[in-house]
Amino acid sequence: MSEQIARDYFEFIASIGITKHPGSMAATRKLIALCHIDREKYVLDVGCGLGATPSYLAKTTGCRVFGVDLLGKMVAQSRARVKADGLEQRVEFRVADARDLPFEDHQFDTVISESVTSFSTTNKSP
Ligand SMILES: C[S@@+](CC[C@H](N)C(=O)[O-])C[C@H]1O[C@@H](n2cnc3c(N)ncnc32)[C@H](O)[C@@H]1O
Repeated sequence: MSEQIARDYFEFIASIGITKHPGSMAATRKLIALCHIDREKYVLDVGCGLGATPSYLAKTTGCRVFGVDLLGKMVAQSRARVKADGLEQRVEFRVADARDLPFEDHQFDTVISESVTSFSTTNKSP
């Protein structure tokens, strides 16, 4: 799948308000346990989609979360979700590319990414 086709696909799923990952939130709960995420942690979610996991993480563990996504549409909807959930103090978002993240080393305790790295939009051009 070319990068443009993948971007078109993400634009489409953002416009209908659906993003998913294999295993759904049951898989996310396992990931939370495997990564020992608790209220002390600062978590980066790369390719956060519509913000479901950042919101769930903050709500269920009390941790702080930073979500990034390639698409402005995803980030806008993620912000609206955490605002509706009253989690703005602990969850923030910005548009960023997983291939060139705008963060210092060691800024986060944990980095997660669900159903992102299999897409061509995460390949570095030769
Ligand atoms: C299948 S969705 C999964 C979204 C979310 N992780 C979830 O589980 O619901 C893939 C997401 O990765 C984002 N994405 C793809 N390539 C990316 C990249 N290079 N940098 C950041 N985000 C990217 C897409 O915009 C999309 O929101």
